[in-house]
Amino acid sequence: MNSPLFVPTIYVEYFFFRDILEGMKGKDLLSVADLGGEDIRLLISDAISLKAQGWLDMLSGKSLVIMFEKPSLRTRVSFELAMRQLGGEAIYLSPAEVGLGGRESVPDVAKVLSRYVDAITARTFSHQTLEVLAGHSAVPVINALSDWEHPCQALADLLTISEKKGELQGLTLAFVGDGNNVARSLMLAASLTGMNFRIASPADYAIDQETLSLAQSNAAGSNGGILCTDQPQLAVEGADVVYTDVWTSMGQEDEAKKRRQAFAGYQVDSQLLSLAKENAIFMHPLPAHHGEEVAEGILDTPQSVVFDQAENRLHIQKALLAAILGGLEIPLAGYYR
Ligand code: CP
Ligand code: NVA
Repeated sequence: MNSPLFVPTIYVEYFFFRDILEGMKGKDLLSVADLGGEDIRLLISDAISLKAQGWLDMLSGKSLVIMFEKPSLRTRVSFELAMRQLGGEAIYLSPAEVGLGGRESVPDVAKVLSRYVDAITARTFSHQTLEVLAGHSAVPVINALSDWEHPCQALADLLTISEKKGELQGLTLAFVGDGNNVARSLMLAASLTGMNFRIASPADYAIDQETLSLAQSNAAGSNGGILCTDQPQLAVEGADVVYTDVWTSMGQEDEAKKRRQAFAGYQVDSQLLSLAKENAIFMHPLPAHHGEEVAEGILDTPQSVVFDQAENRLHIQKALLAAILGGLEIPLAGYYR
């Protein structure tokens, strides 16, 4: 089916993806710190292009294992569909199946999976498990959420902000709540792309010093800014984006009562949102605890972009998989549908 009309399309797409292919092919993504600001910008523009193109064959012959120690709705569905929409195969292994580190050692699992598939995406309780997995895997490992970071979420979030606001540089993102995995990845991604990132957390739940120092150094190089406070109002005042996440993350269920007490006063409600810019958007990675970190009803207001944000997990992960698996270097003969 080699009509002359196909040729320019292929070359345009090839050149569009070429830079990112060279930068990220075969690499792990365990932390946003594995990326630079330019990687993030390229991933966002590729995701926008892929979002418009729908189903393709660029990862035909490639396979991904999705191995989760914790539950998931968005991450599991979006990774599986991302692979399929690019013509590849995805195999899901549920928390009950592998027994990572129990039934079988993490290094052995990494070595076995490397013989079968082209990449592994894993959701683990401990970030160290991911590091051991990546250390013993011959194929790239992607963090699908650990107790330390959630890089794919942060990339989808910046894609969503770009779509809604048209730019990232100079925007102010206010995160209200726990200095957790989502906050950490978002702070690093915002600081690499010239955003002003503000975070309001109770002192005992503030973001760690190591991530803060790295973000401050990123921000110095990108003309961004970082503010840490324990006052939600100070963080949200004049912000373009107001963001929150659950107070109790997966694996912390025993602390739920203590956390509810510590975070009282940190709920994002209409009064707090009214301090942000008039056209500010509200974001949440989901799942949300309505009436806890976010007041009842906020998710369904016109300000809320949480469902666009959830959809964008699919589009950014398609860009990420194309970059890591070298989508357009695969023989182009199979690249028409
Ligand atoms: N936001 C997110 O990662 O959702 P899941 O836990 O449902 O994958
Ligand atoms: N911080 C939450 C995010 C869920 C997507 C958790 O780790 O459970």
